[in-house]
Amino acid sequence: MINEGNIFVFDNNEGVADYAVTEWIEISSQAIVDKGYFSATLSGGKTPVGFYKRLAASKDFLSWDRTHIFFVDERVVPPSHRESNYGLIKERLLSHVKIPDENVHRIQTEGITLEQSARRYEEDIRRFFRNKGDSMPRFDLIMLGIGEDGHTASLFPGKSSLKERTHLAIPVTAEKFPNKRITLTLPVINNARKIMFLVSGRNKARALKEIVEDKKSSLPASHVHPKQGIVYFMIDKPAASLLSGRKMGQ
Ligand code: 6PG
Repeated sequence: MINEGNIFVFDNNEGVADYAVTEWIEISSQAIVDKGYFSATLSGGKTPVGFYKRLAASKDFLSWDRTHIFFVDERVVPPSHRESNYGLIKERLLSHVKIPDENVHRIQTEGITLEQSARRYEEDIRRFFRNKGDSMPRFDLIMLGIGEDGHTASLFPGKSSLKERTHLAIPVTAEKFPNKRITLTLPVINNARKIMFLVSGRNKARALKEIVEDKKSSLPASHVHPKQGIVYFMIDKPAASLLSGRKMGQ
């Protein structure tokens, strides 16, 4: 592993996944000691699948009954669809651990308009944090991916969704299939305590270089800088291949 600041480079996606599990155990245990609960927000896509599988198989003691799972975004498909983020995370992680149903805050899109879906999800988030005494939602951990075009969550380049300042969740039209989605917005993402980007694959190298090294980058993932939180990048060598020698620690 090469570590410079908050950038951690591993040989492959398995290394990323293993380290993310270690971080999860530490962050969740500390949050539960400090406040009595842990709130985490998860992403879809291929990159975190290894992490979900490893976390599901972890033999470490994890207080799933005090863990609340939210979703960074959702594709507008039924939960049984192979493109459903909830479906993926349930299959790979949630169905293997003892988490109460009421601790899983999924983005429901079936049988309602996209506007209603976003409002319901937003209200669920606000209610959860109000009950904990927080006026503005502050997740303990948000796990994000990065697309080849620099998108994160379902915030795509050049879209007005990047300018949303009022709502916590909004409907968007994505640049890739499935194109109808609900996404968290930057105000709530940037209010998190910790943000972990997991990035794997050579196809992410160009976007990652811009996000990490170009201070003027306007790519969506470059808008992620929490006001009072920490951002980590956990990346594999192919994704890190265009980072400067300094960033690679060589
Ligand atoms: C989604 C995501 C999205 C994802 C990136 C990276 O629902 O698609 O939340 O932001 O993290 O597109 O996806 P991959 O890991 O599949 O490359």
